[in-house]
Amino acid sequence: MAKKTSVRKNEAVERIVSRARPVVNQRAPEIQPYGSIARLPNALSENACAQSAENLNQLLADTITLRDMYKKHHWQVSGPTFYQLHLLFDKHYEEQNEIVDQIAERIQLLGGVSLAMAHDVAETTLIPRPPRGREEVPGQISRLLHAHEILLKEAHTMARQADENEDDGTNDLIVSDVIRTNELQVWFLSEHVVDVPIVRAE
Ligand SMILES: [Fe+2]
Repeated sequence: MAKKTSVRKNEAVERIVSRARPVVNQRAPEIQPYGSIARLPNALSENACAQSAENLNQLLADTITLRDMYKKHHWQVSGPTFYQLHLLFDKHYEEQNEIVDQIAERIQLLGGVSLAMAHDVAETTLIPRPPRGREEVPGQISRLLHAHEILLKEAHTMARQADENEDDGTNDLIVSDVIRTNELQVWFLSEHVVDVPIVRAE
């Protein structure tokens, strides 16, 4: 009799505790496939949203790659300019990181699906892969400048396309944030590879 009571008690406790237990290992089909547009009432044509989302995903993959290259160089930099470049590379990393979020969120607000994971970024970016090992400063800076130029070239084309499609928000993001930030960073980097004497005038 006592055994029956205790079984009933255990079952009651289990019923209650089951409500507090996390439901883990869940999987379900995607709610929106990559490359599609889930339209929002944003007064833009579906074609404008689709083209901007596609362009912005390319820009996103390249910006994530450039951002991460800055962190790589921030960690791996060497030589007499170590301290200033260590700080500069991290500053540019942070600025690119801001842009990454703005681009990704713009893709979502256009009704698109933004890239996110390293595998997808690696398959999409146009920026050449650097070696895993360390490189000297001129090589690091050249790689960064090349990446900036790839990004700036596509950004100019994409800004014009957004303008033609009357997608003013995307045009503004690309011109005001992507292009202006990248141009400024190109200047700061380029001045580090001007071969001027640092102690005695020639
Ligand atoms: Fe750091």
